[in-house]
Formats: sequence, C-alpha cells, structure tokens
Amino acid sequence: MPSVTGKKIFLTGGAGFIGSSMTAALVSRSADVIVYDNLSSGKLEFLKPFMKKKNFKFIKGDLLDRRHLSKVLKSNDIDLVIHMAANPDVALGTKRTDLDLNQGTIATYNIVDEARKNDIGSIMFSSSSVVYGIPRIRPTPEDYGPLLPISLYGASKLASEGLITAYSHLYGIDHYIYRFANVVGVNLTHGVILDFVNKLKKNRRELEVLGNGKQRKSYIDVVDCVNAMLHIYSKSRASGNLYNLATEGQTSASDIANMVIAKVSPAARIRYTGGSQGWPGDIANTYLSNKKMLDAGVKLSFKKSIDAVRNGINVCPNAPA
Ligand SMILES: NC(=O)c1ccc[n+]([C@@H]2O[C@H](COP(=O)([O-])OP(=O)(O)OC[C@H]3O[C@@H](n4cnc5c(N)ncnc54)[C@H](O)[C@@H]3O)[C@@H](O)[C@H]2O)c1
Repeated sequence: MPSVTGKKIFLTGGAGFIGSSMTAALVSRSADVIVYDNLSSGKLEFLKPFMKKKNFKFIKGDLLDRRHLSKVLKSNDIDLVIHMAANPDVALGTKRTDLDLNQGTIATYNIVDEARKNDIGSIMFSSSSVVYGIPRIRPTPEDYGPLLPISLYGASKLASEGLITAYSHLYGIDHYIYRFANVVGVNLTHGVILDFVNKLKKNRRELEVLGNGKQRKSYIDVVDCVNAMLHIYSKSRASGNLYNLATEGQTSASDIANMVIAKVSPAARIRYTGGSQGWPGDIANTYLSNKKMLDAGVKLSFKKSIDAVRNGINVCPNAPA
C-alpha cells in the first residue's frame, strides 16, 4: 500500500479525541481529508486549525442517517475510509443497552455497506483491547481466542470487526483493524486521567478511585497511535491487517491516581470504592502484546505504558501546567 499522500480519505469521528490527531496527521501528510462527525462527543474547536486548509473539509453528519451518508459518499471519490466514530463511554453502554448496537454495530454496517456500493477500496477501523474479554494469556497477541467480550461496547467492536472482515472477503475491500490499548494524550475528552483530574478539582482533599486500584491496563499515546495506524497502512502489502496498538507494560489505577494527585492536589488522599472492577464490564487486567506492531517497524515516542500515561497527565485539559 502506498502512503496516504494525495489520497481522498473519509474520516468518521474526526472531531473526536483520537480523530482530531488523525486529522492533523492526514492533513500534514497532504491527504485530501473529509471529516464526517455528528459532534455528539467531538468538538469543532479541535478542527479549527484545519478549517482553512485546501485539503480539509468538515461535514456535520450522522452515520445513522443513511441517506445523507450515501449522498456524501456518492459525490466524493473516496480511496480510504478511516472509521473512528463510536460511543466512547464503555460504562454508559451498560445503562443504555442499544447505544453500542446503534453507534457501533449499525454505524459500522452503514459505512461498510456504503463502501461496497461506492467501490471504496480500503477501510481502517479503530477497534479495542476489549474484544479479548478476560484473556488467559498476557501480553495478549492478535491471534488469541476465543474472543469473548464482557461489555456491550466490546460486543459491538467484535461485531464491527466481523462485518469488516466479511465485507472485505466478499467484496474485495482491504481492511486495517487496529485494537487500541487505552489511548491518552492531547485533546483528551474522557477516560481515567481526566476523571481523576476533574474529581480532584471538585474535592482537593480526597480522590475517589473506582475498584481497588489494582486494575492495570495497557496504554498508548494518541499521536503514537495514529502514526502507527498510518505506518502500517503505508508498509503493509496484505489485504487483511490486524494489529494491537500499545506500549510495553501496564499502568495501574492507583499509579495513575498517585501521579494525578502529585500534579493537581498533593495533600489529597485516595478512597477506593472496592472490588476488582471499576464498573460492570470493565476488564481489570489488560496487557496487549505489541510485538507484531514493533516487528512492522512502528516507532513510538513513548515506549512504556507509564511514560505515555505521565505525558497524558501533563497535557491533560484542566490539569495545572
Ligand atoms: N479512547 C480510547 O482509549 C479508545 C480505546 C480503544 C478504542 N477506541 C476507539 O477509537 C475511536 C475514537 O475514540 P475517541 O476516544 O476519540 O472517542 P471520541 O468520542 O472522542 O470520538 C468519537 C467521535 O465520533 C463522533 N460520533 C459518534 N457517533 C457518531 C455518529 N453516529 N455519526 C457521526 N459521528 C459520530 C463523535 O462526535 C466523536 O467526535 C472510537 O471508535 C473508540 O471506540 C478508543
């Protein structure tokens, strides 16, 4: 596969936390970028730096509005879809049980079916470590199975992967499925770091940590994440691609709590709510193998989980400089 330079790219969710870094990476590589986003969790201000660029266009639209999506794709000769739009909140999907079905599975169906109809050659997808469920093997490699997710968000990511590989097989669409670790870094709008910062801003003496604090996970910096996606796209010669994207090691919730306390309110004490999970559907121990990604030549600016997290805290909105 050649690089993204000169390619016409349809980026769903490009106004979001990770999508805005993808937008920046594509614009700087001289791709022709159309961001399609309903702004449900994304922010237009993230796209401000690109609004006047000739190779950038923003379209406010919803992937569930099939007629609008179809019209936009028909009038643009797209080479590659980068599909990043989804509900970002795993816990919320447990309360609203059709949220991930609609914003994940149906939205993915709509975009791959439109890719088929419009002869779009390639699709990239932002999947997640949650598809592994509670794995017996850690670090968990891409060929681990069976895949048994424990959240509705995870179920919808796995269903989306299945839709993409089936469409790819049946209609000859190249696919790049990336299973992200927890992503941190610039333009963060959700997740554990921001939760801790916001809680400490409200109560400077005590930080409530969900669970027992021993939950530990893989992390990756957002810029490293999008660079890895584009590196693999430019180097791979395969029509089907599946990669974990992660740094080395894990970081625990209590490590993150202590680092955020040191930065935001050093006198605060931690109060754990107890139990091994942060919330129902939370995977308490994720550790993605990043061997395949490194073997493909991906270079990370933050190689270790703890370094990505530390930087994530330093650039977190609302945290003191
Ligand atoms: N943040 C993480 O740690 C992480 C980890 C694994 C996977 N992912 C995946 O990466 C992708 C991006 O996540 P993020 O953290 O940037 O979340 P985000 O909420 O910041 O971005 C999602 C974007 O999609 C848009 N969107 C949602 N539903 C839409 C719809 N129906 N039509 C059009 N636009 C819609 C939102 O407005 C938002 O801009 C998601 O697919 C997410 O599941 C994220």
